[in-house]
Order: sequence, then structure tokens, then C-alpha cells
Amino acid sequence: MAKLPDGVFNLLNDRSSSKILGTKSAKGDVHLINVGGAGTIDPETIFVGEVFMKATSENLEHSKKDRSHASILVSKGPESYEVRCSVKDHVTAGPMFEKMKETFKAMKVDLKGVWLLKAEEVYNESPTWDSGRKIV
Ligand SMILES: Cc1cc2nc3c(=O)[nH]c(=O)nc-3n(C[C@H](O)[C@H](O)[C@H](O)COP(=O)(O)O)c2cc1C
Repeated sequence: MAKLPDGVFNLLNDRSSSKILGTKSAKGDVHLINVGGAGTIDPETIFVGEVFMKATSENLEHSKKDRSHASILVSKGPESYEVRCSVKDHVTAGPMFEKMKETFKAMKVDLKGVWLLKAEEVYNESPTWDSGRKIV
């Protein structure tokens, strides 16, 4: 488990940043989607709102079982970080889910579930001298 640096934490909670979630199918194929409805619960936990996703949810379910990692690439302008994550939980009920469901409803989308991902490693993917370097 890794603590997200402040800059990465803030970028994940910035509604104007781009967030791409990468998962792996049971066959090993890479699958990428946009996840605007993602952010942090705490400095180690990222949530992703399950609204339209099907293949991604199947992949995350698979990764939860085989303990492989998913990745979120969060970017804004020239700043970009990859957060490699283990899959902690898939929440479809309870106070946290109901609260988020209300927030998504205000944006006119129906939240089906919330995926909770644990940050394990963070890589700087900005175009700088230390591109690709593991920072956490
Ligand atoms: C800007 C943007 C933000 C999106 N945010 C979400 C999201 O938060 N949750 C979601 O389930 N799908 C979101 N989508 C749709 C996904 O990119 C994807 O097309 C959909 O979830 C189907 O995923 P699947 O191919 O894994 O079944 C978003 C799409 C765009 C373009």
C-alpha cells in the first residue's frame, strides 16, 4: 500500500483532470476507459464510479481474485501520473454508496456500484527528466 503524494491526490480529485483506468481481461488483453467519476476516499484509496462499465467491472473482479493490478493514469496539462492499484472492494450498498449515489444522481447518472482501489505504486509520467520514475 502507498500513500499518494499531495500533488497526485489533488489531481485525482480535480474534476477537470483526465482519468484513464486500465484493466486486464482474463485473457490478458489491456482495456482502457475514461473514468470522470473517480477520486480519492483517503490518501491510499481511490474510488471509481461504476456507471456504464461492464468489461472493466469484469476485469476488476478478475484482478481482485488473482491479485493483479489495475492502473489509473491521471493527467492535466503537462502533469501526468500512473497509480498502480490493487482491487480492494466492490461496494453496491451501505452509507458510503448511498451518499455517492446521490452525488452522481445530481449529475444525472445512475451509480450502480463503487470500485475501491488501493494505491500500491505511483509513477511520474510527465514529460520531464524523471519520466517513468517510480516516485512512491
Ligand atoms: C469523459 C468520460 C468520463 C467517463 N466516466 C465514466 C465513469 O466515471 N464511470 C463509467 O462507468 N464510465 C465512464 N465513462 C464511460 C467509459 O469510458 C466506458 O465507455 C464505459 O464505462 C464502458 O466501459 P466498458 O467498455 O469497460 O464496459 C466515461 C466516458 C467519458 C468519455
